[in-house]
This record gives sequence, structure tokens and C-alpha cells, in this order.
Amino acid sequence: MNVVMINGSLRKESTYNIGKLLINKLISEKDTLKEFFLPRDLPKFCCGCNTCFTKSEENCPHYEYTSILTKAMDEADFLVFTTPVYVYHTSGQMKTFLDHYGYRWMVHRPSGVMFKKVAVIISTAAGGGMKSTNKDIKDSLDFWGVGKTYPYGKGVAAISWDGVSNKKKQRINLDIDSLARKVRNRISNPHPSIKVKSIFYIMRMMQKKVGFNKPDVDYWNAQGWLGKVRPWR
Ligand SMILES: Cc1cc2nc3c(=O)[nH]c(=O)nc-3n(C[C@H](O)[C@H](O)[C@H](O)COP(=O)(O)O)c2cc1C
Repeated sequence: MNVVMINGSLRKESTYNIGKLLINKLISEKDTLKEFFLPRDLPKFCCGCNTCFTKSEENCPHYEYTSILTKAMDEADFLVFTTPVYVYHTSGQMKTFLDHYGYRWMVHRPSGVMFKKVAVIISTAAGGGMKSTNKDIKDSLDFWGVGKTYPYGKGVAAISWDGVSNKKKQRINLDIDSLARKVRNRISNPHPSIKVKSIFYIMRMMQKKVGFNKPDVDYWNAQGWLGKVRPWR
């Protein structure tokens, strides 16, 4: 199994440690793990040039960074996104990462390989904001077509992993055991959720009937999705 971890912070503290706890429960020596850290691995803001939408993602001025991340994600079976909660939302660097993948939303050119992937989003806060933070990332993953995404948020009442109480760490460990079981089952039978399939069919109808951006319509046609082909079969 190929695992990719994308961390929305350079800090290896609560959020990262919970992410690693999950990954370590799921992988063995024969699996591969690639870890990315933001903003180190994508240190540029989306500049809004629209080139990914109107021409190709390969013309993105930051393609030297995104090409590496994209290849790793496309080759992964399991994706883990981690972010600390910053003012009730995902970290700025994670948002910047997501902005670079606007072209992969189903309204544009989703990658067919996403539909059988499993993802987990992990966020931690001192107190609150995990729900809105996880949604920031889940919106993108659902619209990219990621088959199934499990969000996990935890209020850790701390600003570092050392500061998290043992009682909380025990609780987190139990939560992550249960999450690991769900992920393992899903990876053994990967398929898109009803929500993801529904978005696909709505976007397919839109490409067929409206088709306002030629590169997107051409792409859907080339995949065969406007005919009988489906990305998850
Ligand atoms: C800029 C900034 C904004 C934050 N905003 C919130 C917040 O809205 N709600 C909250 O409960 N904690 C907030 N925190 C606390 C962190 O989310 C919390 O300590 C988290 O566990 C840090 O993750 P890390 O240890 O992996 O870096 C904020 C911290 C920073 C640095």
C-alpha cells in the first residue's frame, strides 16, 4: 500500500503525532509512506492566473512543486491530511495547497484515480473549530472525487504534543484504533461514497448540457465519462 501524508504545518506536534499514530497502526514494512510538509513542499500562493482551468495544470507557474505532490497523491492508496486549527479553519498553507487543485474539482477535470482512494483528515485545536476546519479540506476531497474521506478532530487543550494530558492521549489512542479499523475495511474494498457518485453524475450532466469550458468538456469526453465509462469501474 502507498500512503501519502500531507501536513498543513511544519510542526511535528499534536496534529502530526495523531496522524502518525493512525498511519503506524495501518502500515507494515512492505508499505511505502511519503510525508510532505507545508509550506516547505509548496511555498507559493495560487496567483489566480486561471491557466490550470483554461489551458493545463502543467502550465501552472508552480508546477515544479505541484507535479511532485500530484504524482505522489495519484500513486497513493491512502491519503492523510493533517492541519492544526487556525482561527476556526485550516492552516493558510493547507488552504494554499488546496487552491492549487481547484482544476481537479469535478466541475473541471477530476482525476479518475481518486474515486477508489481512501482519505483521513486530522485536525487538532486547543478547544474548538475542528468541524469547520475538517470541512475546509473535505469539501475539496469530495469534489476531487476521493472515494471516502474520514474526518477526525480533537480538542487537545494544548499548544504542543508534550502538553497533551495522558488521559487525552489514551482517549485519542482508542479513537484512532476505531478509525484505523474503518480505514482498513474501506481500503480492502475501495469504492466511492454515494455523495461522491452523486456529485459525479451532477457534474456529468452539466458537462453534457452546459459545458462552459472547452478543456473540461474535452477532458470528460476523452475519459469516456460522457458515455458509458465510469472512473470507479
Ligand atoms: C494562529 C493560531 C490560531 C489558532 N486558532 C485556534 C482556534 O481557532 N481554536 C482553537 O481551539 N485553537 C486554536 N489554536 C491552537 C491550535 O489549534 C492548537 O494548539 C493545535 O493543537 C496546534 O496543533 P500542533 O500542535 O500540531 O501545531 C490556534 C493556534 C494558532 C497558532
